[in-house]
Amino acid sequence: MPHSSAEPAAVLAPIIDVYLDADDWRPALRTDVRRGFADRPKHLPPKWFYDDRGSQLFDRITRLPEYYLTRREREILATSASQIAAASAADTLVELGSGTSEKTRVLLDALWASGRLKRTIGFDVSEGTLRTAASELAAEYPGVEVRGVVGDFDRHLDRIPRAGARLIAFLGSTIGNFAPVHRARFLAELAGTMDGDDSLLLGTDLVKDPARLEAAYNDAEGISHEFNKNVLHVLNRELQADFDVDAFEHVARYEPEHEWIWSGLRSRREQTVTIAALDMTVTFAADEMLHTEVSAKFRLDGLREELAAVGLHVTGHWTDPAGDYGLTLAQPR
Ligand code: SAH
Ligand code: TRP
Repeated sequence: MPHSSAEPAAVLAPIIDVYLDADDWRPALRTDVRRGFADRPKHLPPKWFYDDRGSQLFDRITRLPEYYLTRREREILATSASQIAAASAADTLVELGSGTSEKTRVLLDALWASGRLKRTIGFDVSEGTLRTAASELAAEYPGVEVRGVVGDFDRHLDRIPRAGARLIAFLGSTIGNFAPVHRARFLAELAGTMDGDDSLLLGTDLVKDPARLEAAYNDAEGISHEFNKNVLHVLNRELQADFDVDAFEHVARYEPEHEWIWSGLRSRREQTVTIAALDMTVTFAADEMLHTEVSAKFRLDGLREELAAVGLHVTGHWTDPAGDYGLTLAQPR
């Protein structure tokens, strides 16, 4: 937490820019569903998991015993945040896919301690979650300008304010949720928005024992199962679909040839679903999969190459003692 000074700084109301309101995302959802259900295997992009309920379920995932990712990332931040703050010399924290902004506070505290912190900007598709997090941060960091950008990684990266020397944090191994071609495009676009004094801090889960990886995505309590199926609730509500959610089950398996966790929903029986808003019926064979997400696992060498390909040079890398998870700092050459 920031220090208290003699003259307490004013709490500034957060400024939220919305580039993704219902008029905008609803057509995008329709297009994604039409396209994704026409392909074999059927697929949906993971961004549609994250309505308010999905964000809450993900928040519960981060606290599960099997889901070591969040704990490891927080541990690394706790030991290295001041070094990261110093190396970045940033006065502005930008966080992509900020969610509840829980780990953000560790970085904000370090930037605050460096005496440079001026503003923090969260970027997320999930408007409700972003607004709540922004209000909390504004109250906790008086005098710091708190902004939120409601947008999509695929379309709105260029709307993020360019003010200040920015530390752009992309945590939670969310970068692993892009397929490789998509990831390269995302990194190129992001790098294109970075100025010489900006830095990128990337959190990535690392390749490890497949049994531990699979356990992290198949927790005993079944929260991953609920989270994955939440996308069907979203389709039922937003597109007047009639998915029998219990007729699908969560599948997450490690594919060593891709070094990723492949997640999907398996149809427990042959079934037909109506999506009224699209005037569409969709049939699923028994055991047919609806692919919802990959969670790629990384190695430092590969990451270094991917960053170099977009003109970013690795200037720092931190892992936990067990080598489970990595934080990588990169700057434009
Ligand atoms: N940073 C948090 C949350 C990670 S979950 C953590 O480390 O725990 C991934 C976050 O990215 C969610 O908050 C989700 O709403 C957001 N997100 C997913 N796809 C997105 C997209 N296409 N554009 C913007 N945000 C997205
Ligand atoms: N960004 C998270 C990850 O890749 C998403 C996630 C966690 C997830 N658990 C899940 C997706 C279970 C589907 C099923 O780690």
